[in-house]
Amino acid sequence: MSHEKRRILTGITTSGTPHLGNYVGAIRPAIAASRRADAQSFYFLADYHALIKTGDPARVQQSTLEIAASWLACGLDPDTVHFYRQSDIPEIPELTWFLTCVTAKGLLNRAHAYKAAVDQNAAAGEDADAGITAGLYMYPVLMAADILIFNAHEVPVGRDQIQHIEMARDIGQRFNHLYGGDWFTLPEARIEENVATLPGTDGRKMSKSYDNTIPLWLPAKDLRKAILGIVTDSRAPGEPKDPDTSNIFAIYQAFASAEETAAMRRAFADGIAWGEAKQALFERVDAELAPMRERYEALIAEPERIEKLLLDGARRVREIGTPLLRRLRTAVGIRPLDELHGNATGAILRDRASSVASVPPHLKSYRDADGRFHFKFTDGDGTVLLESGGFVSPRDAGQYASRLVDAGDDAEAARNLVGDTSAIAVAHPDLERVLAALARLKADKLAREHAKK
Ligand code: TRP
Repeated sequence: MSHEKRRILTGITTSGTPHLGNYVGAIRPAIAASRRADAQSFYFLADYHALIKTGDPARVQQSTLEIAASWLACGLDPDTVHFYRQSDIPEIPELTWFLTCVTAKGLLNRAHAYKAAVDQNAAAGEDADAGITAGLYMYPVLMAADILIFNAHEVPVGRDQIQHIEMARDIGQRFNHLYGGDWFTLPEARIEENVATLPGTDGRKMSKSYDNTIPLWLPAKDLRKAILGIVTDSRAPGEPKDPDTSNIFAIYQAFASAEETAAMRRAFADGIAWGEAKQALFERVDAELAPMRERYEALIAEPERIEKLLLDGARRVREIGTPLLRRLRTAVGIRPLDELHGNATGAILRDRASSVASVPPHLKSYRDADGRFHFKFTDGDGTVLLESGGFVSPRDAGQYASRLVDAGDDAEAARNLVGDTSAIAVAHPDLERVLAALARLKADKLAREHAKK
């Protein structure tokens, strides 16, 4: 993890089957963005969010599999993108609670999704909150935790989600303010301006709620049938047709190159028959999807491979989330009681340090294949306690390492240095052990200095 990269994060709710609109509007642009050299992407399956939308367990599980397989089939590279499942990160619900406790209830009252549900009840003459779960109400806080836990800079979302990103900023800012620190980066919504919104088979926006979608992985034969079923006007073959009001043209454009699109525009002016235009649309879409469909089928047949990959993704992101949560716990006052009196801390840590194994922990500096300078801190038994990110200069790496050692018996300072994810890429989850080893290193250093005198 190098620290100057932009962190791009987005979640996909696992309550449905991916359709062409999801592919064009979200999957394809997100995978393209994940290849940006200046970015680190975090894409995750938002299965806790799915529980707000559906109470059908089989559907949540099936959708999780289908969505994971879809993103992988479409070219997501799990080695370069953090790809994980929300429910594998226990830090997310814990952070959700911390954030819940600083979130104004009034803020949540104003959330569009909640307000729409209340309005619907009013229109139906029902009680304002009839059928509304606290899950729907709390949805923006869970989403804020998803984003803030990895200090994302940019969150690519659809327009309907902009308010949620603004709420995540509000909530993060409030926590920063109340607990005095830059605990969270404040995220920004990123709206892809030149990504098409696909019309569905009835001409309205393709959306599960309109029941007008074309599933992404239909076999070619069924894909063709679905495309033939898209509504058109009643212009006859030979009559000129307006591409700019045509659903067929809109979908074609989302898949075709500029030249292909220009040629289709001419064909419309020349009065192409709807049947012919639909056949051309089917062929163009199928040409793009066919190779991915084959990969999708192969992936879906091996759920255990996907399971393993997701668990591995979770393990890697928790290396970032776990240290942050430890710092946040300290920030809010969920702390070991032996830290109660500032002065006692050092003594207790020194006691602990002297009781650890006789082989001392050690710090090693090295230059990695990326040309950057790193250090690694290992315990006497070889357990890796810390691994730094890449520093541009050996001096910066050395200085950070010395600061760590010097902080050794100051739990608060050491905690902050260890938890700084811009410098420390990997921290052993047992922070107390890391602190004890640092304290030991410092004690050894002091002893050496003393002996020299
Ligand atoms: N609520 C988002 C949606 O319905 C999905 C989501 C959950 C999400 N957590 C997120 C998106 C965090 C971006 C960031 O589309």
